[in-house]
Formats: sequence, C-alpha cells, structure tokens
Amino acid sequence: MDTFVINGGRPLRGTVRINGSKNAALPLMAAALLTDHPLTLQGVPDLADTRNMSRLLKRLGIDVTHTPPEDHQPSRLNLSPHDPTPTTAPYDIVRTMRAGICVLGPMLAKRRAARVSMPGGCAIGDRPVDLHLRGLRALGAEIHLEAGDIVATTPRGGQDPLQAAHVFLGGPNGSTVLGTANVLSAATLAQGTTIIEAAACEPEIIDLANLLRAMGARISGDGSPRITVEGVAELNGVDAYPVMPDRIEAGTYVMAAAITNGEVVLENFPLDSLTAALDRLAHIGIHVEEQGVRSKEQEVSQTKNASTSSQALAASSYPTVTVLSPRRLNPTQVTTQPHPGFPTDLQAQIMALLTLADGNAIITEKIFPDRFLHVAELLRMGANITRVGPSAMVTGTRELVGAPVMASDLRASAGLVLAGLAAQGTTTINRVYHLDRGYHKMEHTLQTLGADIQRVDDKDL
Ligand code: EPZ
Repeated sequence: MDTFVINGGRPLRGTVRINGSKNAALPLMAAALLTDHPLTLQGVPDLADTRNMSRLLKRLGIDVTHTPPEDHQPSRLNLSPHDPTPTTAPYDIVRTMRAGICVLGPMLAKRRAARVSMPGGCAIGDRPVDLHLRGLRALGAEIHLEAGDIVATTPRGGQDPLQAAHVFLGGPNGSTVLGTANVLSAATLAQGTTIIEAAACEPEIIDLANLLRAMGARISGDGSPRITVEGVAELNGVDAYPVMPDRIEAGTYVMAAAITNGEVVLENFPLDSLTAALDRLAHIGIHVEEQGVRSKEQEVSQTKNASTSSQALAASSYPTVTVLSPRRLNPTQVTTQPHPGFPTDLQAQIMALLTLADGNAIITEKIFPDRFLHVAELLRMGANITRVGPSAMVTGTRELVGAPVMASDLRASAGLVLAGLAAQGTTTINRVYHLDRGYHKMEHTLQTLGADIQRVDDKDL
C-alpha cells in the first residue's frame, strides 16, 4: 500500500497550476447520460474518482475516450453514448465512489428507469440520500429499495416522462450538493417548469448549470437557493466544455504555502469561489494577492458571461495569485457551512494550520459533525486539540513533530500532509489512496515546490 514519507520544515516556493475540479467534474460527466450526442469535457482531473466514474459510464453504454494534456492544451474527455439500454449502476463501482449516485437523476430522466446501488456511509459520516429521493419523487419518480439498490422509474412505470414540480431540498444540515445536481439534471427533461427551493449554491452547481445550458437546457437562478428549470424535449452534445478549477485543491495549496511559511504562486485560481476561506486566512495573517488585479468592468463582464453561456465561461480565465505567509499565525474561529460559507472540505487543512497559531482557535463542523478523524492523528504529532461534540478547540503549539499517522478520508489526509510539511522530523502517512481520490499527484506538485516528500510502498519501509 502506498505511503508518503515527508521530511518537514522546508518552506514551499514556486508556481502551481490548479487542476480541474473533481467535485464539479463528476456530475458534469454524469450529464452525458442526458443526451444521445457526444459531450467533451476539458480539464477533467485524472483521479481515482473520475476514473471510476468513467468505468461506471462505460457500463452504462457510453464510450469514454481520454486525451491527455499536451502543448499547454487541457486534457479532453469525450463521452459518446452508443447504447441507451443499460439502466443499472452496480454496487462494485458505486461502493468505490459515493458520487456514483449522481448518475441516478440523468439516467432516470433520459432512460426512464434507473437502478443504482444505495451508497453506504463513509469515514466522514452516514451520508444519506433521502433528499435526492425526495426531490426525484416530487418530479413523479416511482422509487423503491430492492436488495440495497434504489430502483426508480418515471411515472406510470416508465411510460411518461418526469413531471415538473415545486421541489424543496432543505435538510437538517442545509441543502445537498449532489442531491441538487441530481434533481437539476433530471428536471431539464421533465415536462413543465420545475422550481427547486433550498438548492445548494455551490460553484460546482453553477458549473453544472452552465454545461446543461450549453446542451440546450433552460435554467435560471443557479448559484442562489431557488433554481428554475423549464423542461425541454431533448438535449444536445457540447464540444470542449471547460471544468472549473478545483477550489478545494486551491485552498489546500494556499494552506500548504502558509503552514511552511513559504511563498507560492497559484495559477488558474478560483478566487471568487473561496471568499469565506480567504476571509479566515486573512484573519490568520495569510495574504493571497491577485496578480494583475481585474478591473471592475472585467469582473462585471465575467459574471454576466458566466451566467449566460459556456463559451463565454471558456473564454474567461481564472486569475493567478501569490500566497504570502507571516512567521506568526493568529488563531481564529471557523464554522463550516454550505456555500458561500467556509467549506467542510477545507476543515482538516485549516485545523492543521491552526495547530501552529499563537493562541486558541475554535473549529465547528456543521456539515458532517463527525468529520474529525484527523484530530487523533494530529495529536500524535504534538498538536493540542480538544474535541467537544461538533467543535474542536485548537491551542497553538510552537512546533509539530513528525510521526507515523494514518489517513482516514480524502481531506483528513490532506490535513496530515500539511502537518507533515511543517513538522520537525519525518512523518509517514499510510493509506494515501484516500488522497489519490481527490489530488492529482500531490507529491509531485509538492516536490516541485521544494518539499521533501516521497511516495513509497509500505512493504519497503
Ligand atoms: C458533496 O457531497 C461533496 N462531494 C463532498 O466532498 C462535500 O464534503 C459535500 O458536498 C459538502 O460540501 C462531491 O461533490 C462528490 P451533501 P454530497 O449532500 O453532495 C446531509 C470530498 O472530500 N444530507 O451536500 O454527498 C448530509 O449528511 C467530498 O471531496 C442529508 O441529510 O454532500 C450532510 O450533512 C467529501 N440527506 C449535508 O446534507 C441527503 O439526502 C450535506 O451533504 C443528502 C445529504
């Protein structure tokens, strides 16, 4: 099993280009099920999760061709439907990737039937899908559970298309990102005008809506809690839709620069999607400065373009930023919330950073209240953290010390890598396959910034 060995204490310096977003790419890929025509996505990151989604789409009758990046051209992922008859997303793939659930809405809307294995819980919590099912039922879907599978048809056993409805997607912890993606995708082919209330406002939902619009869907209000979808009879393919940059990868590299007291330039940086995280980082004393600051006119035109067409979005580019970090970090309070609040997917990373702040910080997790498996591992590295229910008090310490630690989930692993980069001595992180689900060759990226990090097989240790 792969393990990272990190000799910490080196300030990171250099330039990194942020990759396409994993969490945007997965529902965008699933949108290939909504059309009979080829769909080509640019910049889909090459990760375990996106490869698993490709495997799943192949099983569902879609030809998948990946062209790697070359000569500064982004990678291309061509998704060409050739057999519309399969309707089963099997457990052997869905269990490797919870986001397999995002084929449910598109497949149901287009093929009028879908059988998708019910995803189980994972290290960060129970991960229910009741809101996805509630939303699809509101569109007339007939759904029951059978042998651990969600079995769904459109009304009258698949004879009629989905029917538009007023859908409420609010749950105990706010809205649901993949649930919104499922219902939004399904509503594009429903008869009539659907209104989704308490929709997730995450930038990945805007990216999906931009793609669906480019395919011919009629959607407005994405990015707000109320999305309106006027159903159409069919959707087209799209050539070269660019996936948005990964805001969580971007935030992780900002904090890697900060925790090592380094100076890093990040290109293709989704600045506007990270406002809450950058606000907390500014409190801590980390400066993220945009190079060649955009004029007001450019900002207005970018916002306008982004909400009207994918071509305009393709033409727009994301800025380059420089991350500057002071030697002393201030403590702060962080509460994870749905977008535009602080993202849960950066909670472990900011906790690692705050272990070295000058005082007491408090982190409250409101999305996945048990997402704290990294706490015990950070304690092994000398951090001072007390957990009380969904909150953790982090008392800054002068230094972390390297130790063998265990990765438990994707973002917890990223937090441990950051801690290892700052710690004195050697940190070994086991089970880095968790990390490979969401970060493209993280050790290579960190090596180019001057980190001493190696991937080794734990049998060789
Ligand atoms: C997406 O998961 C992301 N995954 C997660 O990133 C991210 O942590 C999460 O959104 C929150 O931002 C992908 O995009 C592939 P939710 P999702 O449904 O959509 C509750 C990563 O590390 N809920 O928005 O599955 C749920 O328990 C991953 O990249 C219900 O109660 O998350 C949670 O408390 C991990 N019923 C809250 O809503 C439901 O039917 C938000 O979950 C669905 C969710």
